[in-house]
Amino acid sequence: MIILAIESSCDDTCASIISDGIVLSNIIASQNIHQQYGGVVPEIASRAHIQNIVPVVNIALQQAQIEIHQIEAVAYTQAPGLIGSLLVGACFAKGFAQALNIPIITVHHLQAHVLAHFINDPKPQFPFLCLTVSGGHTQLVLCNDYLNMKIIGETIDDAAGEAFDKTAKMLGLPYPGGPLIDKLAKQGDYKKFIFPISKLSNYQYTFSGLKTSILYFLENKKKENPNFIAENIADICASVQYTIVETLLYNLRKAIKEYNIKYIGIAGGVSANSLLRKSIEELGKELGINTFVPEFQFCTDNAAMIAITAHYKQQAGLYSDLKSSPSARAVWQDESKN
Ligand code: KG4
Ligand code: ZN
Repeated sequence: MIILAIESSCDDTCASIISDGIVLSNIIASQNIHQQYGGVVPEIASRAHIQNIVPVVNIALQQAQIEIHQIEAVAYTQAPGLIGSLLVGACFAKGFAQALNIPIITVHHLQAHVLAHFINDPKPQFPFLCLTVSGGHTQLVLCNDYLNMKIIGETIDDAAGEAFDKTAKMLGLPYPGGPLIDKLAKQGDYKKFIFPISKLSNYQYTFSGLKTSILYFLENKKKENPNFIAENIADICASVQYTIVETLLYNLRKAIKEYNIKYIGIAGGVSANSLLRKSIEELGKELGINTFVPEFQFCTDNAAMIAITAHYKQQAGLYSDLKSSPSARAVWQDESKN
């Protein structure tokens, strides 16, 4: 079974070809144009997707050495995301499906981030606990099977990626700030400045208090020394990064014990963070459990994760049709038959 998968939920136009669960190509066209605005501009993102989608799909086909007529199903990210961006992927997929008379498979972006762990070997076993940390979401997901997943905890306000991006903005760094904070933090001392680590019950996360405390901290320090940020940027980045990672690990640790988990992983854009990756490995060693850290190309948004999810949905007979439509905020529906 050969599937073409499209991902266009935010500012990356992505296409992937998968054949019987083996990813043959994974192409991403990033939209650098948003950097000058300090964040993703939805209308610009939609227009860029329209320009990128045909070339990206063509390159994905070429790299996979697959002809269009060999494609047997087309998958697209249905939710959540920017509605204009999602619509481009949905319209392309529907047109493609109609032209080739092949079925459509709709994919939930957050389920796909988790299933990115099943693209390559070694794969986790179930039950598998995944911490999904992206620009828009922070979730602890308990997976009993490929399609049987339950969110056991999530953020009540900002996402972990947002905490990185908003801190970067306060420090005058360009968007997206996460990778830059990660880089600068390598030269800094994480113990230099202390920020609050939130510890909510029910595996909930909150990052808005951290954002406010960083804002007041910087304002006060700048009053004493106008060059405070420039002179302390590495230590600030290291301290903030440490606080975000410790906040993430607090609920994860609790859930591992309470659910008696032996397989854990991280997913989403923030799983590219070097401290988070190192801390998860260390946590695994400390608790004697198996840890899974995705390859960089499968951390941030990509279509290979949409393709692998479509593969499992196809195997379960979970097809959609031309009436399917994207949704900016669709809630996660458990479609498994378990
Ligand atoms: O999953 P993703 O590519 O897109 C969404 O679905 O949101 O995640 C993007 C987020 C951004 O907030 C970005 O700053 C963050 O991932 N990010 C990082 C790193 N690389 C990307 N955050 C911290 N450290 C990194 N190395
Ligand atoms: Zn994402």
